[in-house]
Amino acid sequence: EDAEKGRYDHFMRKEISEQPTSLAQTIEGRIVEESGGEGSARRVCLDEFPPGAFADVSEIQFVACGTSYHAALYGQAMLARRGIGSQTFRAGEYAMLPAPVDEDTLVIGVTQSGETADTLESLRRASEGGAQTLALTNVVGSTAARECDDAMFIRAGPEIGVAATKTFSSQVASLALLAERLCEDRTGESSPYQGELLSGLSALPGLVECVLDDGRANDVIDRYRGMDSYFFIGRGIAHPVALEGALKFKEITYEHAEGFAAGGLKHGPLALVTPRTPVFAVFTGRYTDKMLSNVEEVQARGAPVIGIVSEDNSRVIETVDDAITIPDCHPDIAGLLANVQLQLVAYHVADYLDRPIDKPRNLAKSVTVE
Ligand code: G6P
Repeated sequence: EDAEKGRYDHFMRKEISEQPTSLAQTIEGRIVEESGGEGSARRVCLDEFPPGAFADVSEIQFVACGTSYHAALYGQAMLARRGIGSQTFRAGEYAMLPAPVDEDTLVIGVTQSGETADTLESLRRASEGGAQTLALTNVVGSTAARECDDAMFIRAGPEIGVAATKTFSSQVASLALLAERLCEDRTGESSPYQGELLSGLSALPGLVECVLDDGRANDVIDRYRGMDSYFFIGRGIAHPVALEGALKFKEITYEHAEGFAAGGLKHGPLALVTPRTPVFAVFTGRYTDKMLSNVEEVQARGAPVIGIVSEDNSRVIETVDDAITIPDCHPDIAGLLANVQLQLVAYHVADYLDRPIDKPRNLAKSVTVE
């Protein structure tokens, strides 16, 4: 086992570091550059789903658990930006009470392992109702890949640490490509974001490398040890990033952590905010003013705010108590980079507390019972 970990103390740390490679694998051959009359342009090329593959899809539902559920929420937000509605369900709920479907409904099961019992059951219920099913998974030959009508593989490579890291990033990158393909098939044209998004995705392995080289996550969290609770907030795609940041943090540190939609603070969570509840605020370049007013809301209750923010955003950097920065990039990509910083935050805290990072108590890599 030690040999497999290489120079790292834990598989989780190794897998965080592998993300430039795993992301390069995810996108390999799926973004092609074409030269035309007005110079070169990138376009999505998915062998599994040629143009028109989703022409008869009128409704999209996601079913997933845990980290994959957060990736699905991220996918839902990217689709919404492109004018395409979708719904995301926790598979444990959907398996009990499936949403109505028909033959024009596409139900996408997001599952790293392809073996999570609730996700499989949800996909089976959807299929029985006549829906088209698609497994977005890391494991070729998994039950989800075999049972669904179609499969898209995220190609992240094996993940050993119970806490999912590189597979979240590869799920989101795959969903970004899928969102563009769905948009083309549904609207007949590529989204206005396609050029910027695809160049951002192509640059992603290098951008993640920059984040990994940055030691700020470690330095900053040193100042917030032994607090009562850790909160994570965001809007739009930064909301699932906040949820995922909190999940990772609680899973491996055993400290209390919760993620909230920043706009929901006033509806309850604000009652919990004190000087002993640091708040991680995720900025992606969208909704900055609204996020800043949330930051001021919690600062007014004495909570220190750690902003995860573009290195170019001096207004935010000056307002927050501490900043963990990411390279400036398209918002859909910024969410992924912010998430890598939050993976490092959780890892460093858990490592300091000497937790069994790769095998947290009571948790399993794959939950194969309902
Ligand atoms: C378990 C794991 C999580 C994972 C979830 C869903 O809870 O501990 O890391 O996100 O299952 O797994 P899946 O394989 O379906 O993505």
